[in-house]
Amino acid sequence: MHIGVLKGNGIGPEITAATQHVLEATGLPLEWVDIAIADEAIAAHGHPLPPETVKQLRDVKLSIKAPLIVNKLQGRISCIQPGGTSQTYPSLNNAIRRELRLFVNPRPIRGFPGISGRHEKLDVIIMREVTEDVYIGHEHQIGDDIAAEAIKLTTRAAATKVANYSFEYARKHGRKRVTCLHKANVLNFTDGLFLRCFQEVSNDYPEIEADDMMIDAACYTIVRDPLRFDVIVASNQYGDIFSDLAAGLVGSLGLAPGANIGDNASTFEASHGAAPDIAGKGIANPLALILSGAELLDAANQPKEAKAVRDAVRNVVQARTALTPDLGGSGTTDSLAAAVAAEVKKL
Ligand code: NAI
Ligand code: MG
Repeated sequence: MHIGVLKGNGIGPEITAATQHVLEATGLPLEWVDIAIADEAIAAHGHPLPPETVKQLRDVKLSIKAPLIVNKLQGRISCIQPGGTSQTYPSLNNAIRRELRLFVNPRPIRGFPGISGRHEKLDVIIMREVTEDVYIGHEHQIGDDIAAEAIKLTTRAAATKVANYSFEYARKHGRKRVTCLHKANVLNFTDGLFLRCFQEVSNDYPEIEADDMMIDAACYTIVRDPLRFDVIVASNQYGDIFSDLAAGLVGSLGLAPGANIGDNASTFEASHGAAPDIAGKGIANPLALILSGAELLDAANQPKEAKAVRDAVRNVVQARTALTPDLGGSGTTDSLAAAVAAEVKKL
């Protein structure tokens, strides 16, 4: 089984090695395909996301993606399209998602007993639409530092696609409720359309409860009433912010995995960034990327191994012996990964 590997920057290479170690412990015949991105791709091909990289990601289909230092590239990325035109994206992560048509960023967030306090029973999955909204990067200045404006894009096609994905997921995984987050009372057209598409799709899933909540009320509610939510669907920016909030409630960004799913290719990445403040120190928490690796195994139709990785992480976190400093321990990236790998072998 071939798996693409984008090592990323900052803590990226450290947590990638840790994740490979744990996935190898499942005993699956994994073959890693190193794919150049950002600085490495600039050195090899003169572009942070060259057509060679896009093609490799498509060919291999499933890739582990470590975080990238987005601002290192000083902003916008232009990619040549098949017809010879070019498309400009506001960041490298945005470019990867849109070049590969990765339309949804599912972020499962679960509490851990003994770590997550009153949120230890939190168990939500946030389905964040990732191809449009204000993150299309169509913004400009007006006058000389006088004002600036940005376009917020919502299309029926993208809103329907992410809603469909969310309800299908709920049906497949026995989830009971899907909640749409929005601000349609203010943004009648954009969020109004997002909500309407959600409600239309919900009619095809009568066995699943469908409801909606204003994004600000949802932030308040998830803090006070962690069991209120199940599957959550949100547009790009709300989903981005709300998922970091949920990760904070369970104890660390280092526990929050994620993926970017497309019809033909997917990447699996932690919710957190490249953490330059702790890079090279060997203390980064690799669990979010390891748990993203479990999501990859699910996508590769290896549910038994995926579950073993998830259970191993849970057992090691509960034992509290090898935890990294963000979780109050004195372990290292490698010792934590070694503990999880040993646990995987036992399961
Ligand atoms: P960040 O998530 O990298 O770090 C925020 C805080 O959480 C820092 O104190 C960091 O040390 C800590 N942290 C994050 N992940 C951790 C882990 N695995 N173990 C222990 N502690 C962890 O966010 P920040 O500082 O805003 O961004 C740093 C860089 O990462 C920026 O260049 C940003 O653009 C980039 N970034 C990349 C993302 C991606 O590639 N998917 C996502 C978010 C940010
Ligand atoms: Mg974010």
